[in-house]
Amino acid sequence: MSKAHTCAFRKLRSGERSLYRDHLHALSPTDRHLRFHGFTSDETIDQHVARMDPRRTQIIGAFVDGRLHGAAEIVFASLTDRSSAELAVSVEDPYQRAGVGGGLTRRALRVAQNRGARFVWMYCLPENEPMRRIASSLHGQLKLADATIDARLQLAPATLRSRLQEQLEDGLGTMRLLSQVALARVA
Ligand SMILES: CC(C)(COP(=O)(O)OP(=O)(O)OC[C@H]1O[C@@H](n2cnc3c(N)ncnc32)[C@H](O)[C@@H]1OP(=O)(O)O)[C@@H](O)C(=O)NCCC(=O)NCCS
Repeated sequence: MSKAHTCAFRKLRSGERSLYRDHLHALSPTDRHLRFHGFTSDETIDQHVARMDPRRTQIIGAFVDGRLHGAAEIVFASLTDRSSAELAVSVEDPYQRAGVGGGLTRRALRVAQNRGARFVWMYCLPENEPMRRIASSLHGQLKLADATIDARLQLAPATLRSRLQEQLEDGLGTMRLLSQVALARVA
């Protein structure tokens, strides 16, 4: 298992959709169920990724040894309304319980904050203890609605500091990823 501090976190580029699709395919059936709230075939995942609108969607990736093993997907309410967004997080089984999901969520909230969102919704099934813990640790308001836990996370307005943090984290993630790829080549 890898620790979050050895992960490279950075936003995915528009040409990297296939990395995200492959990561979602790699989720176990249970994790797919928790992520999409029901049985999810490979075809459904392909359609989900193909339909993503890059103008409303940002994906933050978590890379280990140069490969994507975790991601946070932020979708803003609409093309013109960025005051709220929905967030979904996924980490492949061998990389769970090492802080990667929490790290992705914190970075995703900053990305949403810096684009004007004032709150972010996360939806999870009641049995999803890790996601409930992540939402609670970020002071989310959790409520049960239609057999789903709705977590509402309030965001402060963007600041120069929050924008700089995002840029620095992305830069650091890019450098870490490059070194992971270089090390994987010589290994
Ligand atoms: C939810 C998910 C992203 C968490 O990823 P992760 O990398 O394991 O998360 P972290 O390591 O940051 O752990 C978050 C918290 O959950 C706890 N946790 C992790 N796995 C757990 C488990 N199986 N049972 C109980 N608690 C667990 C951790 O101890 C941590 O709690 P703490 O902050 O109080 O110490 C991951 O389990 C996953 O991908 N699940 C399937 C998809 C999904 O459910 N997505 C959420 C719905 S959108």
